[in-house]
Amino acid sequence: MRKPVIAIDGYSSTGKSSISKIIARQLGLVHMDTGALYRGITYFALTHCMNGDAAINLPKLFLHLNEINLEFRNVDGELELFLNGRNISKEIRSNAVSANVSLVACQKEVRDFLLGIQREIATKGGVILDGRDIGTVVLPDADYKFFLTASVEERTRRRFLELKSLAIDTDEDQVMQNLTLRDQIDSEREVAPLRKADDAILIDNTNLTKKETVDLILGYINVLT
Ligand code: C5P
Repeated sequence: MRKPVIAIDGYSSTGKSSISKIIARQLGLVHMDTGALYRGITYFALTHCMNGDAAINLPKLFLHLNEINLEFRNVDGELELFLNGRNISKEIRSNAVSANVSLVACQKEVRDFLLGIQREIATKGGVILDGRDIGTVVLPDADYKFFLTASVEERTRRRFLELKSLAIDTDEDQVMQNLTLRDQIDSEREVAPLRKADDAILIDNTNLTKKETVDLILGYINVLT
C-alpha cells in the first residue's frame, strides 16, 4: 500500500516540527522540516552575502543559490541540517537567523530554489512535511493537511523554553516580537503566503500537550483512511 503524504502548516512555534517528527516515527514516514531549509539559506546569506555588516545583499544571494547544497543527515537518530557538508543545526536557531529568515523567505528566487527539493522528497509518498505553504503550494494534493495555531503567549513560552534548552541567550519579549513579526511578514508576503489551505483541518493547540496534538492528528488520519 502507498504510504501517505501529510502536510502540516501553521504559525511559528505551534509545535509543527516536533509533532511531525513524532508522527513520522509512529507511521514510518520521512519527515522534512522545511523551515530549517529557509533558515539554512538565511545562514548562508549571513555568512556569504552581506552588505558590510548591515543587511543581506539579496541579488548576491540569488547569484550564489546554486552553490548551496542543503541536506538532512541522520546524526544519532536525529535529522540534522548540513550546508555544503557542514552541520549547521545549531547555527540556524540563532537570533540572527530568526531575525532575517522571513525576509529571505519572501523572495521568489529562494522559494523557487527550495520548491524542487521539497517536492522531490514527496514523489514516492511516505512523507510528512511541515512549514507554511505545504498544503497550499508545495503539496496541494497531499493526502492529509493540518493547520496548527495557538495563542501568541503560549507560542512565546514554548519557543523561549526551546531556545533556553539550546543555550541560546534571549528573553521572552524578544521571542514574542520575533514570532509576531515573522507571522506578519509570512502572512502578508506575495509569494506563497502563510495561510490555511481550504481543505486543511484547523487545530488550535493552545491548551493541548504535544501528545494530545499528535493523538488528535493520528485520530483524523485513522478516521479519514
Ligand atoms: O518553521 P520555522 O519557524 O523554523 O520557519 C522559519 C521561517 O521560514 C518562517 O518564519 C518563514 O518565514 C519561513 N518558512 C516559509 N515557508 C515554509 C517554512 C518556513 O516561508 N514552508
